[in-house]
Amino acid sequence: MGRPGDSVKRGGSPGQLVARSPFEVEVNLKAKLALLPGDGIGVEVVREAVRVLDAVAAQFGHTFEYAERLIGGSSIDAYGTALTDETLADCRASDGVLLGAVGGPKWDDPQARVRPEQGILALRKGLQVFANLRPVRAHPALADASPLRPEKLVGVDLIVVRELTGGLYFGQPKKREFVNGRERAVDTLEYWDFEVQRILELAFRLAQDRRRKVTSVDKANILESSRLWRQMAMRLAAEHENLQLEHMLVDTAAMRLVANPAGFDVIVTENMFGDILTDEAAVLAGSMGLLPSASLGDGGPGLYEPIHGSAPDIAGRGIANPLGTILSAALLLRYSLRLTTEAAAIEQAVDRAIQAGCRTADLGGALTTAQMTDEVLARLRG
Ligand code: IPM
Ligand code: MG
Repeated sequence: MGRPGDSVKRGGSPGQLVARSPFEVEVNLKAKLALLPGDGIGVEVVREAVRVLDAVAAQFGHTFEYAERLIGGSSIDAYGTALTDETLADCRASDGVLLGAVGGPKWDDPQARVRPEQGILALRKGLQVFANLRPVRAHPALADASPLRPEKLVGVDLIVVRELTGGLYFGQPKKREFVNGRERAVDTLEYWDFEVQRILELAFRLAQDRRRKVTSVDKANILESSRLWRQMAMRLAAEHENLQLEHMLVDTAAMRLVANPAGFDVIVTENMFGDILTDEAAVLAGSMGLLPSASLGDGGPGLYEPIHGSAPDIAGRGIANPLGTILSAALLLRYSLRLTTEAAAIEQAVDRAIQAGCRTADLGGALTTAQMTDEVLARLRG
């Protein structure tokens, strides 16, 4: 959650001042942002988010400089690897990274040694962004877009805090081998206590500013790593008596997410469980295309990406929903640049556009990607 250091200027003429909090004012901020559009619709939606960032910069008197780089399949085609060391270094040197999506049929061969997804994993690990925040709200105007009954969606406002740099995604050994003529595949689910501690702490901190309820999702009846997780959650809860902690097995959580989603506030869970539960939770919002995410570490730039993929089926047609990426850009402003007012301005503009009935194809509408962004831009100043 790094601040942009020297590039942040304070003070300025009174006319330019925009108050953040009684103690903090930021004007004329200069920030270096890394853009990684990636593949498929990633390219189309990042372009739109940049239009919104530029509008915010103009409106609030900031300067955003962009360094655009390849990741995923497009990087494999150009360099033979899904993320080059140079690109990672440029991302590290930035104040925040905005990513589109990676992957596509061209690079889907399960036999391939280089795969687009390796780029994202290397980036998450390289930036040490261990906490993936995925907020999910059910907008009343979009209740029709969800397969759930509208009354189930009332009051749905949750955030999933997904551990992002450990667990099954990274545990070693991870391999395929032949043993006595049989082929065997191994993935390892491993967690260190410090990895569990820091993600739980972050979830507890977030809950303080929300409804103060944390649901820790695990599979403690089966998995040793989950038992460590649950014990550490209990220990931490003892230090936070104003918070309510509940433990939930992941299978139960999957059911509750559709049976009683409004009952959740902060959900904290390990990498793979979080991956699966957040796709499920997207159903509550009405479309995957709406959901942003922020990946944060202890310092250094954050990584911001919509939770949807590269959607090869609609790529190149200009009809993808840009809102998940636009809202990810808002999270970048909030968490990496501390531009709270600006972030809220984007979120409100998106809310108003939805309220006014603006819809891309995923939500049953006919607006193109660019037209949807136009609608947001039109409401940014209002
Ligand atoms: C996500 C995606 C990624 C993940 C893939 C693309 C590596 O599904 O961000 O949820 O599994 O983490
Ligand atoms: Mg996923």
